[in-house]
Amino acid sequence: MSAQRKIIIDTDPGQDDAVAILLALASPELEVLGITCVAGNVPLPLTEKNARVICELAGKPGTRVFAGCDAPLSRALVTAEHVHGKTGLDGIALPDPVMPLQAQHAVDFIIETLRAEAPGTVTLCPLGPLTNIATALQRAPDIASRIQSIVLMGGAYFEVGNITPAAEFNIYVDPEAAEIVFKCGAPIVVLPLDVTHKALTSRARVQGFRDIGGTLGEALASWTEFFERFDVAKYGHEGAPLHDPCVIGYLLAPELFAGRFINVEIETQSPLTLGMTVADWWGVTGRAPNALFLDQIDTPAFFEMLTRRIATLNAPAATAP
Ligand code: RIB
Ligand code: CA
Repeated sequence: MSAQRKIIIDTDPGQDDAVAILLALASPELEVLGITCVAGNVPLPLTEKNARVICELAGKPGTRVFAGCDAPLSRALVTAEHVHGKTGLDGIALPDPVMPLQAQHAVDFIIETLRAEAPGTVTLCPLGPLTNIATALQRAPDIASRIQSIVLMGGAYFEVGNITPAAEFNIYVDPEAAEIVFKCGAPIVVLPLDVTHKALTSRARVQGFRDIGGTLGEALASWTEFFERFDVAKYGHEGAPLHDPCVIGYLLAPELFAGRFINVEIETQSPLTLGMTVADWWGVTGRAPNALFLDQIDTPAFFEMLTRRIATLNAPAATAP
């Protein structure tokens, strides 16, 4: 196997974050250097606890989990309990984590890791508001040129908003942070609602999760059944969009995705369109492209890979011959 790809997952679990983290921990191509938590779907004390619950469910209690920023750079925190429930992982009751939370602040871990690892060898995978990433870039501007890539879930263009008519949640919560990230100069790949709304669960796909068996299979199925309520009520179609797993799916199988390299800027002023990703899909502004903005996915292949790989976490640990 070629060298593992080093990644840092920045996250606000959230059921879909949980599926993304499980997929990453189940994939030997990826070396998860750490999981940094941010306030988003639910407040920080819950997102960092949930991240540890997920790592223990994956059988990876040695994963380093860090707590980061508990509020956006310059705004009050907006959360999404209406989507994810009060705990952020509603759908199944899992035991409190035993594994430790790292003492180091997530932002310091991000800076230290990018400075310690060879330039261009660490990929940042934000799955929530971009507060931790932006804070790291503000404190240590030198790290921007050391980032291999930022592969993030956030934004929307043709799909428009899911928290306001114009904005997707991750960007909306901290638009100032998003502006810093999109202007930092590092290579950026965006998994917006335009692609994640095509990564929909179905009865058969949820049954495929449940068929994995054990607490792992039940958690996957129960989380997506819980998480689906919001989207079915809003959009009227069956299925929960697996937003965050698309980030990890892209790392593992980029050939399953397609989009355009375009200019993307963030609305930070207008109360009406705050947090909108202004994506120049038709190339009318003349502004320099700064992000690969994906809108296509091979959904059956994505779910086949996701389910097959996460099922390996249930496999009994290999015993010495
Ligand atoms: O808009 C979807 C995004 O917001 C996902 O990352 C979900 O987990 C929430 O954070
Ligand atoms: Ca998330």
